[in-house]
Amino acid sequence: MLTEQAVGKVTMEKLVSLCKRRGFIFPSSEIYGSLGATYDYGPLGVELKNNVKKAWWRAVVQERDDMVGLDASILMHPQTWVASGHVQGFADPLVDCKQCRKRWRADHVKGKGCPDCQGELTEPRMFNLMFKTSVGAVEDEATVVYLRPETAQGIFVNFQNVLTSTRKKLPFGIAQIGKSFRNEITTGNFIFRMREFEQMEIEYFVKPGTDEESFKRWVEDRFNWYVNLGIKKENLRLRQHAKDELAHYARDCYDVEYLFPIGWSELEGIANRTDFDLKQHAQHSGKDLSYFDEETKERIIPYVIEPSAGVDRSVLAFLADAYDEEPDKDETRVVLRLHPDLTPVKVAVLPLSRNEKLAPLSREVCGSLRRSWMVQYDDAQSIGRRYRRQDEIGTPFCVTIDFQSLEDRQVTIRERDKMRQIRVPVEALKSTLDAKLNGEAFDVLPPGGKRWLGFES
Ligand code: GAP
Repeated sequence: MLTEQAVGKVTMEKLVSLCKRRGFIFPSSEIYGSLGATYDYGPLGVELKNNVKKAWWRAVVQERDDMVGLDASILMHPQTWVASGHVQGFADPLVDCKQCRKRWRADHVKGKGCPDCQGELTEPRMFNLMFKTSVGAVEDEATVVYLRPETAQGIFVNFQNVLTSTRKKLPFGIAQIGKSFRNEITTGNFIFRMREFEQMEIEYFVKPGTDEESFKRWVEDRFNWYVNLGIKKENLRLRQHAKDELAHYARDCYDVEYLFPIGWSELEGIANRTDFDLKQHAQHSGKDLSYFDEETKERIIPYVIEPSAGVDRSVLAFLADAYDEEPDKDETRVVLRLHPDLTPVKVAVLPLSRNEKLAPLSREVCGSLRRSWMVQYDDAQSIGRRYRRQDEIGTPFCVTIDFQSLEDRQVTIRERDKMRQIRVPVEALKSTLDAKLNGEAFDVLPPGGKRWLGFES
């Protein structure tokens, strides 16, 4: 495992501290001493997380003909988890220390004693990771249900509903984003492994025999999604699962791994699940989950390719990859070089000072941009400090209104990455920012401005 040093300046401590200080991520129910491995997304975190989900949805649903979306419920019929294999098999081997009572995952304990106090350990026993609860008002008659440990099963049980209502033909896929819950034992790496987290999952249904080709394409597509959103290629790699590592349902599986501050770890898994799930649900529900192949006039059970990503792990990877520090006189300039599609705030509007003469135009500019983007208005402290505050949260553009602006209705746009500045007329501000934020070259020279290509590579 690589150390934090190997990833450069970013460490988990720095990320945790930035996230807390600037309102990205807080420990859950912190005033009560927090609850282990659960986190809350603050005002900037919720924007970043929503942007990650939007970017995923756009790439895998909106821009494709062969994909549709779904939002299934968290609570499902308990038979679902019998059919999927989770009731019997979704478990980790655990041991307890007889002395200090601490619980460990058996496969994480080296030697025979407790890693903390060397006390004697119990024999391993299987511990199911699913959270149980019950539905119904009368406890005795209540039915035990589970908080879903993956969103995938909500897709499989709706396969026929989606097929009938959309008349989709193979190959086609169903995408879903939602919360999943696992009573994880090994925790402690910030939002990398939580007990409540969000997944972005696709079940892509194909004709048997075409599964390997489709699998390869998805592995490539999913790897490129992270690269297109700015993650450095050298911090990403693909790792194929060894045969003895494959889940019981999988014929093949690749992990997209990221060089997190804790070392190379799984960001997303892409599995060839064969016809395992549809067959299991057909058998347990007694319903026909086959597909009529019009070419061969036969009923078949489709194979499934499953790209399964974690929203929170993606957020962590995007933050870690974007985090940068550079010397700035006797201070340090912290910059989040996030892709503009992901930044919580797209534009900051900064009057040069708090002078009340600057307020009306500044407010007018702010109001005109708000309908399109998340905009922050900030007039507190020096302009230099305000630029730094925006750099630290990744805001790609700052717009400054000065006294000259009151005379010529031109404002200054400052770019986060290269800190270049141009002046544009207020009337051209929105279209200029629009082009910049959409990654288009800005080659129309604004009156009095100079050619400027923000974000060119
Ligand atoms: N349906 C397949 C499935 O759930 P998984 O490898 O268990 O596969 C998929 O989970 C992804 O969900 C992981 O790659 C990871 O990004 C995310 N994930 C899983 N457990 C998590 C946890 N406890 N906390 C945060 N993210 C998690």
